[in-house]
Amino acid sequence: MCGIVGYIGKKDCVRFLVDGLKRVEYRGYDSAGIFVYREKDKRSTLVKNVGKIAELEKSIDSSVVGNIGIAHTRWATHGEPNHDNSHPHVSNNGSIYLVHNGIIENYTSLKKKLEKHGFSFYSETDTEILVNLIQLHYTGDIEKAVKEALLEVKGTYGIGVFSLNEPDKLIAARLGSPLLIGIGKNENYFASDPASVVKKTAEVVYMQDREIAVITKESVVHKTLDDEVLKKNIETIAFELSDIEKSGYDHFMLKEIFEQPKTITDSMRGRLLLEEGTTKLGGLSEHPEIYRALINAEKIYIVACGTSWHSALIGEYMLEEYAKIPVEVEYASEFRYRDPIITPKTVVIAISQSGETADTLAAIKEAKRKGAVVIGICNVVGSTISKETDAGVYLHAGPEIGVASTKAFTSQVIVLALITIDIARRKNLSFRQGYKMVKELKILPSLAESILENSNTIKEIAKKFSSARNFLYLGRGYNFPVALEGALKLKEISYIHAEGYPAAEMKHGPIALIDENMPVIFIAIKDTIYDKVVTNIKEVKARNGVVISIASYGDDEIDKISDYVIKIPDTTNLLSPVLTVIPLQLLAYYIAVEKRFNVDMPRNLAKSVTVE
Ligand code: M6R
Repeated sequence: MCGIVGYIGKKDCVRFLVDGLKRVEYRGYDSAGIFVYREKDKRSTLVKNVGKIAELEKSIDSSVVGNIGIAHTRWATHGEPNHDNSHPHVSNNGSIYLVHNGIIENYTSLKKKLEKHGFSFYSETDTEILVNLIQLHYTGDIEKAVKEALLEVKGTYGIGVFSLNEPDKLIAARLGSPLLIGIGKNENYFASDPASVVKKTAEVVYMQDREIAVITKESVVHKTLDDEVLKKNIETIAFELSDIEKSGYDHFMLKEIFEQPKTITDSMRGRLLLEEGTTKLGGLSEHPEIYRALINAEKIYIVACGTSWHSALIGEYMLEEYAKIPVEVEYASEFRYRDPIITPKTVVIAISQSGETADTLAAIKEAKRKGAVVIGICNVVGSTISKETDAGVYLHAGPEIGVASTKAFTSQVIVLALITIDIARRKNLSFRQGYKMVKELKILPSLAESILENSNTIKEIAKKFSSARNFLYLGRGYNFPVALEGALKLKEISYIHAEGYPAAEMKHGPIALIDENMPVIFIAIKDTIYDKVVTNIKEVKARNGVVISIASYGDDEIDKISDYVIKIPDTTNLLSPVLTVIPLQLLAYYIAVEKRFNVDMPRNLAKSVTVE
C-alpha cells in the first residue's frame, strides 16, 4: 500500500527520490518523507510532511542534499496520517533510519520488549518498533542487526535501512511486500515498484520473501535471512516511461479507459488461432501437467478481490457454460479463513491486477497448503502472485496507475474467455462455434473504440446525475457482474452510494428504494434475456424511477421505455461485458470529475492492497 524508494551513488538523489515517490503515489498518499545523507560532509537530513507528495516537495529546499537516501509515501495502517507517524522512522539513538511497506503484526509484544530495554517512542507506528529492534541488535554490523531483528518479526515487510555508522551501504529486505533492486552504473536503487526506477534503469532484480540485499554504489549482494548468498537473475522492466505517464489525458483513469482498444488487443496478441477456431495460452500450454489438471478439473475455485472478483464472476459463467466445469467464485479474504473443500481434482484460479493483493496471496497459500494446483491471472509481470502460482497467464495490459481498475478488468475478461475457449474446444465446443468466438474477439477492439467515440453522450448524462445520492445498477447473466463493477467504480471515485444487483432480484427488496430520485442503470443489450430485462425496466418505470439503459445499436424499443440510452455494438454473450462496462467506467469517471474529486487518488483507497 505504501511506496518506498532508495538510492546509493555519487549524485545528489533528492530529485530522484521525490520523482520515484510520485511514480508510486497511487499506492498510498496520506503522508510522505525522505531521508538523505551527503557523504562528503556527513550531513544528514530528514523531511516529512502530511498529505500528498506535492506537500513534501514544498518542505524540501536547497539545504536538503545527499548522495544516499531513502523515501516513503504512506497509506496509514498504524496511527493517523501525521508528521510523527510518517516515514522514514529513526531509532532512539538517532543512528538508524528505516522505510517500511507492510505490517509488523507482533509489534505490541516487541514494543514491550523494547520498553524493558529503555526504548521510548514518538509515533504510533509498527515501523518505529522495527527500527528500534534493529538498534537493539546492532553491535557494529547493520546487515547482521537487520537480519536478527527480522527473524523476530511476524508480519509483512518491504524495507530499506540506512545506518549513520555504516554510510557506505543500504540494506533492503522483503517478506510479503514487493521490493526490487535497480541496477545502475556506480549507483544502485531499491523500490517497491519498477515505475520508480524505470527512468534510470531497465535492469532490475526482483527480491523474494525472506531475502535481504546489501546495496553499495558498486555492488548488490543478495542473501537469505540465514546468510546463504544467492545468485539472482537480472530482469528487464517490461514497460517504458511513456506507459506510466498521462500522455495528455487529465487523469490516468481516463487514459486507461481510452487505452482499452489497445490493451484488449495486447491481451489477445499471439493467442488467437482462427484457423483452428481456438486459442492458445503459452503460460498454460508450457506447463502441460498443470494445464491438464485445469482441463480435467472437477471443480474450480476462482479467488480474487474487488474488480478482479467481478471478472471472476464472469469467468464462472463462461467456464460453466462452455468448458462445463463447475466453478465457485470466492472473495479471497473469505476463502483464506474458511475451510474450502479441496479434492485432488480441484484447481484454484487467482485473479489479481497487481499480483500483490495480500488477501489473494493468502488464499493462494491456503489452496497450496491443501494440495490444489493454483493458476494465476495477473497483470504485473514478476509480481508475487505470478511467482507463487504453479502456472499463469499475464494480461499484458501495461501498468495500471489509476486506483479505480478499468483496463485490467476488460483484459481479465479477455483472458478468461481465451482460457474458456481453449478448454471448451478440447471438449464439446464445435469448430464453428469456436471460430465464431475467435472472430468476435478479433473485432472487439474496434467495437470498444466505437463506444469511446461516443464518450460525449456519456459526459452529458454524467452532468445530469452528478448530484444524485444513490444509484442502482442492474444486469442479468454475463452482465450481472458488470452491474456490480459499474456500481463499484462509481462508489470508489465519486463517493456516491451505488449498488449492483441481478435485475430480477430487484423485486425481492431494492424495488422499495425506487422513486423519482433514484437513477437506475440497466444493462439491456439484445441477448438471450433481453425480454426479461425489459420487463424489469418497466417495473422501475411504473414506480417513477429514472432509467438509464446501456442498449444495443438498432434497438429503438428501448428508447421508448428509458429516460436516457447509451447505445453500444453487440458481440457474443461471453464477450459482452468487455463492451458494456466501458460506458459505466466513463459514467463514473465523468461524474467524479463533475464533482471535482481527485479521480486517480480517491480518498481512503490505495492501488494495491498489500495489507489484510
Ligand atoms: O490488484 P488486484 O486486482 O488484486 O486488486 C483487487 C482490488 O483491490 C481492486 O480491484 C480494487 O477493488 C480496485 N480499486 C477496483 O477499482
